[in-house]
Parts: sequence; structure tokens; C-alpha cells
Amino acid sequence: MTHQPVLLTEALDALQIRHDGIYVDGTVGGGGHAEAMLARLTNGRLVGTDVDPAALERARQRLAGFGARVSLHRASYVDLGAVLDGLEIDQVDGVLFDLGLSSLQLGDPRRGFSFQMDAPLDMRFDPDCDLRAHEIVNRWDEGAIVRILRDYGEERFARRIARRIAQARAERPVDTTRKLADLVTEAIPKPAQRGHHGGRDVHPATRTFQALRIAVNDELTNVERGLSVAFERLATDGRLVVITFHSLEDRLVKRFMKAKAQGCVCPPDLPVCACGREPEAEIVAHETPTDADRERNPRSRSARLRALRKLTSPSARTER
Ligand SMILES: C[S@@+](CC[C@H](N)C(=O)[O-])C[C@H]1O[C@@H](n2cnc3c(N)ncnc32)[C@H](O)[C@@H]1O
Repeated sequence: MTHQPVLLTEALDALQIRHDGIYVDGTVGGGGHAEAMLARLTNGRLVGTDVDPAALERARQRLAGFGARVSLHRASYVDLGAVLDGLEIDQVDGVLFDLGLSSLQLGDPRRGFSFQMDAPLDMRFDPDCDLRAHEIVNRWDEGAIVRILRDYGEERFARRIARRIAQARAERPVDTTRKLADLVTEAIPKPAQRGHHGGRDVHPATRTFQALRIAVNDELTNVERGLSVAFERLATDGRLVVITFHSLEDRLVKRFMKAKAQGCVCPPDLPVCACGREPEAEIVAHETPTDADRERNPRSRSARLRALRKLTSPSARTER
């Protein structure tokens, strides 16, 4: 099993890699994007982070040939500031986040991310994290499960699914991915069971599994924090490039980038600007996969890339 990097050319174009720059791959995974970045960094460095030690091990093997130009860290991208401090790096020229899970994680039956294989209900990116999907499914109250399915899965049958789970677990724990997928299917009315997305059939449990994964790994909070930390450490002209796989994440990225690119917010009839607000960044890319990409790599079908370039900070402008 290999992980094919999604929107690779687009990510490299958006990063505009300088051969002697310092770049971060915040979600290094199997090292696909990182390898392509390092190939352009003939004199530069790449710092990679991931919370999954198995992914890091793969990346370590794949990137070994780049020697001291790459350093890999078992850390959340939320803690990027501390990682960079530890390396005595103040600012970087670009940061990539390729969010979500890799094909390696999805295809590993022990991780419990997929309903295609029977596995314990786990879904943790970081195996040292205390919370597993099993705990949510079997111990959290029904109302909390409804909220997770609605907020993180945009699941319109959230209430019915949570009810079915509560009924089943009253008899015996819901232990496996298959069992959970069967319960979800039973809870959804027959005509609504066949969903479609990007021209493909979608399993009725897809949204429930996405929701649980987001909750287990606190993904949306992490994305919000990660964007801020990455932006803070970008040098002027530095690029922040983010690839997302579902609309909830994409909405956060879009809102963050729009806010950074927002200039004066005074009413248009005001003769001079009174707010003094200047854009901190400009949006430089918004890409989705081509049909050929989607055909070649089905995992890319819902991918979206957004990128910004950091502008000189307003304080630096006044100092000059
Ligand atoms: C889509 S994969 C990245 C694949 C990679 N770009 C490649 O080409 O091989 C996303 C990775 O992000 C990692 N991840 C998830 N949450 C993270 C976090 N908070 N901090 C760092 N890595 C995280 C996952 O463990 C996974 O390996």
C-alpha cells in the first residue's frame, strides 16, 4: 500500500519553493509531499511533523537520502512553534498542511479508520491519545453522539443513528468498525442509503466515520490553531498552503485566509480610511483536482487546496 500525494504539482507551485529556504510539512505522513519539496530544496531545509509514529517511520525511511536537510518530529502541527524554537528557527518560507488521514492509515486494519475492514473502533492519529472512537460510541450520552454526527458529519439522520447505537450498546458493546457500519446502515431509511459524491457511491456510514474521526482527534480545533501558529512563523512573502478533504475544514481555511487578506473595512462612502486596517496576506491559489487526478487517485476527489502569501506586516511598514 502506498500513499499518493494529492494535488502535488499544485502544492509545489503554490509554495514557490526557494532552493535555499526553510519549509515545514506539518502533516508529513508517508513523506510524499515532503520528498518533492526536498528535491527542490537543494540548499534549504525541511522540518516535518506528524503525530503518528508509524507515518513518521515511513517518512524517515523515504527521506533518509536527504540527510541533515530534513528533520522529522513527532509533534502536532499545533506545537510547531515549540518545534521551530527547538531548532532555533525563527521564521520559515513556507508551510504545507495536507489534512486528514493517509491511505496508509486508512488501509491499516489495526487503526479502525475504515468500515471496509473489521477492526477495533480506534481512529486515533496519535496512538498515545486517550480518547478512542470506542469510548464515544459506547460511553458518551446519546445527545452528545447526535451533536458529533451533526456538527462533524453533517449527517441528517444523526438522531436515528445515535438511537440505534444506544439500543445496540444496551445489549452489548459496539466493538468493531463493521458492527458500527451495520448499525448506521440499519438506522438510515432504505431510499437514503445510496449516497453519491463526485460520481461515486458513498457508503451510508461514511459521514458517521468522518464525524467520529474528527471528534477523536479534535481535528477542527487543531486546524484553527495550526493555521494561526503557521502564519505567525511565516516570513514576509512566505506561503501557507493547505489541502483539505471535507467542507468543514475547508470552511475554516477559507475564513482564515479571507480574514488575513481583508483590507480596509470602512463604509464605502467614507472619504478616507478610518479603520487603518491593511491586509496581512494575499490569496494566491485555490485549486481542486482535475478529472484525470480524480480518476487516478480516488482519495483526491473531495480535495481542495488554498494558499496565501504573507505580506509585510503593518508594524514593519510603519517602522520603516
Ligand atoms: C493526508 S496525510 C499526509 C500525507 C503526506 N502529505 C504524504 O504525501 O505522504 C495527513 C497526516 O497528518 C497527520 N496528522 C493528523 N493530525 C495531525 C496533527 N495535529 N499534527 C501533525 N500531524 C497530524 C496524520 O497522522 C497523517 O499522517
